[in-house]
Amino acid sequence: MSSNDTLLSIERLCVSAKAKPDHMLVNDVSLTLAQGKTTCIVGESGSGKSLTALSILKLLSPQLQTRGRIVFQGQDLSALNEQAMQGIRGKQIGMIFQEPMTSLNPVLTIGFQIGEPLTTHLNLHGDALKTRVSALLAQVGIDPLRANSYPDELSGGQRQRVMIAMSIACKPQLLIADEPTTALDVTVQAQVLQLLDRLKQEMHMGMLFITHDFGVVADIADDVVVMFRGDIVEQGSVQQVLNHPQHPYTQALLDCVPDAAGKKMLKPMTYDWLPTPPAGASHA
Ligand SMILES: Nc1ncnc2c1ncn2[C@@H]1O[C@H](COP(=O)(O)OP(=O)(O)OP(=O)(O)O)[C@@H](O)[C@H]1O
Ligand SMILES: [Mg+2]
Repeated sequence: MSSNDTLLSIERLCVSAKAKPDHMLVNDVSLTLAQGKTTCIVGESGSGKSLTALSILKLLSPQLQTRGRIVFQGQDLSALNEQAMQGIRGKQIGMIFQEPMTSLNPVLTIGFQIGEPLTTHLNLHGDALKTRVSALLAQVGIDPLRANSYPDELSGGQRQRVMIAMSIACKPQLLIADEPTTALDVTVQAQVLQLLDRLKQEMHMGMLFITHDFGVVADIADDVVVMFRGDIVEQGSVQQVLNHPQHPYTQALLDCVPDAAGKKMLKPMTYDWLPTPPAGASHA
C-alpha cells in the first residue's frame, strides 16, 4: 500500500497491565488501513481486539500502559494530549463500542443523543441541528419522527442503528466498530452489517471492524488481521486469508464457521499447533 492512501497505521503497539508489565495483552501489533477500505480484526475472546481498538482512541483503562505509535492521517496520536484527543474522538474517528445496549443513555431521547456530537464538534444548534438529526435517522433507516423516543422504546436493532447514526454524525474518516452486531439476532445482524457497509461506501470512510465471526469477515473485509492471545498470527487480503490460510489458528477458526444451518460448529477448536509449555508454566 502506498503511504499516501494510508488512513491509519498502528506501529508495534504493545499493551500490558502496569502491575504486570512483562505479560503482553497486545504484543507488537502493526497494521495499516487504507482510505475507504475495511480491515477486520478477528480472533477469539480475550485475544486483544478491543484493547487494540481502544488504544487508537486512547481510551484504555488507567491500569494499562502502551508502547508503539498510532498514526492517523499522518498525525501521531500517541503524542497528543487528552484535549486534542477529544477533538478527534467522534469527529474524525467514530466508534461503535462493543456493548451498544449500555452505551446509550436511557433518560435522554435518541434525537438528543445523536445531536450531541454535532453540537460539541460542529457547533450545530436549533433548526440546523434538528434537520441534520432527522437526516441521520433517515440515513440509518429509522423514521425521523422517532427522534423523541427513548432508547428503551426501540428494538435492539434500532438502538444499534442509533449508535451508528451517532458514530457517523460528524462524517468521520475512520469508523471503528467493535463487534457491533454480536448482540443482535441473525437477520438483524445482516441488516446492520449491510447498513455499515453502505455507509462506509457512501461516506468513503475507512473501517476497522472487530469480530470473532469469519462469516462477517467474508462479507465485508478487504484485509484481515488474525489475533491470538495478543499476537497477530496472520494478516493479509481477505482472499489470501480465507482461501489460503497460512496459520493453523486461522485454519482452526475457519473450521469453526457455522454450517449453512447457521448453528452447528463443524469442528471443535484445537490448539495442537501450540508449543507445549514447559512443565509448571501457565498461560496467564
Ligand atoms: N484493565 C485490564 N486490566 C488487565 N487485563 C485486562 C484489562 N482489560 C483487558 N484485559 C485483558 O486483556 C486481554 C484482551 O482483552 P480484550 O478486551 O482486548 O479482548 P477481546 O479480543 O476484545 O475479547 P472479546 O472478543 O471477548 O471482546 C484479556 O485477557 C483481558 O482479560
Ligand atoms: Mg472485545
